[in-house]
Amino acid sequence: MPFPIHRPRRLRSSEPIRRLVRETQLTPSSFVLPLFVCPGSGVRREIKSMPGQYQMSIDQIVAECAEVRQLGIGGVILFGIPSRKDEEASENYDPNGIVQRAIRAIKAEAPDLVVITDVCNCEYTSHGHCGKIVNGDVDNDATLEWLAQAALTHAQAGADIVAPSDMMDGRVAAIRRRLDENGFSKVPILSYAAKYASVFYGPFREAAESAPQFGDRRTYQMDPANVLEAMREIELDIEEGADMIMIKPAMPYLDVIRAARERFDTPIAAYQVSGEFSMIHAAARNGWLDLERAMMESLTSIRRAGASIILTYFAKPAARLLGA
Ligand code: PBG
Repeated sequence: MPFPIHRPRRLRSSEPIRRLVRETQLTPSSFVLPLFVCPGSGVRREIKSMPGQYQMSIDQIVAECAEVRQLGIGGVILFGIPSRKDEEASENYDPNGIVQRAIRAIKAEAPDLVVITDVCNCEYTSHGHCGKIVNGDVDNDATLEWLAQAALTHAQAGADIVAPSDMMDGRVAAIRRRLDENGFSKVPILSYAAKYASVFYGPFREAAESAPQFGDRRTYQMDPANVLEAMREIELDIEEGADMIMIKPAMPYLDVIRAARERFDTPIAAYQVSGEFSMIHAAARNGWLDLERAMMESLTSIRRAGASIILTYFAKPAARLLGA
């Protein structure tokens, strides 16, 4: 007869006791802040659907990174908005492309801040797809060359970690080989291993100007209904040489994070994507949710599910709150 001997409420009776028995902790050092870098100087253009997030020119990004470092945030991930897009995603693997220049500028000012790069073509193609179009579909094997070369130019510019997000088959192996052949065997790959064809990327596509001009991404990103397939994607990426794996989006896929945590031993990252961020802001603006509490509860849930690294647009306010 457990009750009245057992009363779980005893351990919830005060904040000091709750803190003592808390199972999940958030730390700024495991947050990664996504940043959008655009041409020009002195540019800080707010993204309408993502309050407090900006497209920033390189000088502004460098200043932002100084603040990020001061807050103890684990790192940044860079997305580029090129000055011109073409069929071949040329600026993605241009050694003087927007991201490559941004990496060099950040590294000159903040050498110890972890700089991750998103390796994908969709921001650089005129059609907005993540690879080379052949007969109306993204051609897997032709796209690998662009990705390998983009990752190499990022590493040459000083990126600490490269993170392919395109969902082409074999990209991790192709990138690993290209990096190793060129003396970058020390640069880790964080693979977006289980990336779903999600509606929650909507605001990002405004931010990165990367919406596909025809069709959608369902022939390469995963079906939201599948979890076994996610395990297979992760397994293949680890076999190909991924050092860390990512699940994306985060909150609608907590079961996938948990399943991956139980099965694989690499660090697991989860990306709380633009739509997750914007939904919380929208509800808060309507007075329907408390912004700070919704932010912390959402991050805690992702951590509790098993993610060790969280990519989040909330990195700065959450770090401030944790530091206070
Ligand atoms: C690039 C990429 C996307 C996101 C990260 N990398 C967009 C997409 O696949 O359409 C989404 C991030 C977010 O929504 O915050 N392929």
